[in-house]
Amino acid sequence: MKYAIETFDLTKRYGDFTAVDALDLKVEDKSIFGFLGPNGAGKTTTIKMLTCLIPPTSGTAHVAGYDVIKNPNEVRQKIGMVPQLVSLYADLTARENAELCADYYGMSKDLKERRIDELMELVDIKYAENKMVKQLSGGQKQKVSVVASLIHQPEILFLDEPTIGLDPTTKSVLWDLIDELNQKGHTIILCSHDMYEVDMLCDHVGIINQGKLAAYDTPQGLKDTILTQEEKCGSNIGEIVREMEESDSGDHPSFFKLKEAVNESEIDKAREMSLMVDNSDRELINRLYQIPCVLNIETHRSGRLTFKLANTENAVTQVISSIMETGGNINSISTKDPSLEDVFIKVTAKKPKTGKEEGE
Ligand SMILES: Nc1ncnc2c1ncn2[C@@H]1O[C@H](COP(=O)(O)OP(=O)(O)O)[C@@H](O)[C@H]1O
Ligand SMILES: [Mg+2]
Repeated sequence: MKYAIETFDLTKRYGDFTAVDALDLKVEDKSIFGFLGPNGAGKTTTIKMLTCLIPPTSGTAHVAGYDVIKNPNEVRQKIGMVPQLVSLYADLTARENAELCADYYGMSKDLKERRIDELMELVDIKYAENKMVKQLSGGQKQKVSVVASLIHQPEILFLDEPTIGLDPTTKSVLWDLIDELNQKGHTIILCSHDMYEVDMLCDHVGIINQGKLAAYDTPQGLKDTILTQEEKCGSNIGEIVREMEESDSGDHPSFFKLKEAVNESEIDKAREMSLMVDNSDRELINRLYQIPCVLNIETHRSGRLTFKLANTENAVTQVISSIMETGGNINSISTKDPSLEDVFIKVTAKKPKTGKEEGE
């Protein structure tokens, strides 16, 4: 099976309102898929349809090879779900909650007790097995929820914002767990607002906006798209300026204004790099300004140089080689590329296109 999940024009309407709009989405088997989108974008609604909690208005989806409309029972056997709001029985103990889930799947007593022990040890919650859920912290409840969702060894695990409100340590325990589960062969669908989490864990990311898929790629692929788009935009304007410079219009007073504006806009979008250089003197700075991709250099008292670089392919290498050629000694270096957060803001800021061209 190539895809753990495949949706076909999957749509959910509430009256006149379309919460999920003809979604075509593919999630590779045994991968970690990050599902992003602003509040109200349709993530939970999509997950509810994929987990057979609500029926689609039209379209359908295959989950673990089964159709959610024709074979909901088979789908349910193959999936586990950690819901956005913890849905455990507050007056039962952690262990009793897990047992109840195992009973739902009709597991034998032996198998049930063994799995619960294994899973509780895996997520490190065994020490609290006899505490009532209402006495547990948010992170502890989340762990019990994970145990309950994994009891029947589902192929696909859905996690709807699992680390929201957790402290950094508990978050990182859950991240390790997600990674470990994936290595054991589970496909993971992770809904999250935490860009760091998604960037670090996911093989592919889908960004949904107003019920439509607005972007789909690897985390790095999404960031690269932003770089390429910006480079195109910058170089187009740069091209115009160069042409004007060569023609008569280069003398026109407003040309200087335009040129200034172009530089500013290019600087705004540029990649940043920061270097600690031993021998940073005026001569070196002037030399570095000769490199076409260097847009701006700030010198700090500490000797640190902060660069704004155009998004050309070898920008960082060019600067470093130039410093090394003068016998310069670089003590430290850091660069800043667009983050997944930049991608998210860009993709969800504009309304998605409507009509048939979408996603084609
Ligand atoms: N049962 C419902 N009845 C009417 N509207 C709903 C219902 N469930 C969700 N919606 C609406 O559908 C949209 C998508 O919601 P949801 O899938 O929960 O978003 P997300 O999980 O991405 O934040 C929202 O505008 C929400 O108000
Ligand atoms: Mg939601």
